[in-house]
Amino acid sequence: MSRHLISIDDLDRAGIERILDLARSFAEVSGREIKKVPALKGRTIVNLFYEASTRTSSSFELAAKRLSADVVNIRSAGSSVDKGESLKDTVRTLSAYDPAAIVIRSPWAGAAQQITGWTDAAVVNAGDGKHEHPTQALLDVFTLTQALGGLEGLRIWIVGDVLHSRVARSNILAFQRMGATVTVCGPPTLIPRGIESLGCAAQDTLANLGEADVVYVLRLQQERMQEAYVPTLREYAQRYQVNRARLREGQIVMHPGPVNRGVELSGEVIDSDAALIDAQVKSGVAVRMAVLYELLVGAPVLQVVA
Ligand code: NCD
Repeated sequence: MSRHLISIDDLDRAGIERILDLARSFAEVSGREIKKVPALKGRTIVNLFYEASTRTSSSFELAAKRLSADVVNIRSAGSSVDKGESLKDTVRTLSAYDPAAIVIRSPWAGAAQQITGWTDAAVVNAGDGKHEHPTQALLDVFTLTQALGGLEGLRIWIVGDVLHSRVARSNILAFQRMGATVTVCGPPTLIPRGIESLGCAAQDTLANLGEADVVYVLRLQQERMQEAYVPTLREYAQRYQVNRARLREGQIVMHPGPVNRGVELSGEVIDSDAALIDAQVKSGVAVRMAVLYELLVGAPVLQVVA
């Protein structure tokens, strides 16, 4: 892995497998009564969140704390960002604390990459606009590996608002790298043109959903829609909602959260045993511990040649 985690493309299959192995041992730590190891004792991690987040921010915070790091959490609301401070000045200010890592979520595609030029810290992308969300993809791969043993040969359908989804981009790359085949499905207005260039297939109806082993449902991201991409939520649900009638026995259902209950996913499926949604959230802590560990401790030590 490079010094930063910006995109799934920073990782080859061996790198993903290394993180899965680490995550397995950190999941064991998370199962203990005392959920802490001293790996990052005395080091500082800054979580910088410019967008709403529940799962990603809480699990990065817990991950850093369970590795014994000192953690600073900054939310744009209530910080000097509200007073007009630029991203560059904010990053330089926080870098004065000499953090080992900055975890950043931002509405701007490319923000995580950009701040690598303004800080000596390792940068972890916790979601940059519509671009990528690599730790979500890693926790989804981890969750599937825990449930099914691996992804080789799995058929995974990603259903919904692919256009606005950084999760879709990262997951298409990660699922395929681990040996799965991926089909994206949604209304043509919400499927980016040329998505097949990532190696996946595209469908505009759920007619063949039965072929999927795993149905990965995405939230309709209404906050990123300046114009109407779907006629009404009811019509969207009629055509694309994943519900019990559309699933067959044995299919696994995933969703990164937050769910619009009753829109892209029916309540009965969310609450059923087919859904791995809670397992995904739980995996988030172990996988983010693994990513922080890999970046800050696992990196090969530079050999100084005299
Ligand atoms: C996703 C995100 O923010 O990209 N949520 C998450 O991180 N669990 C997906 C979403 O907002 O729909």
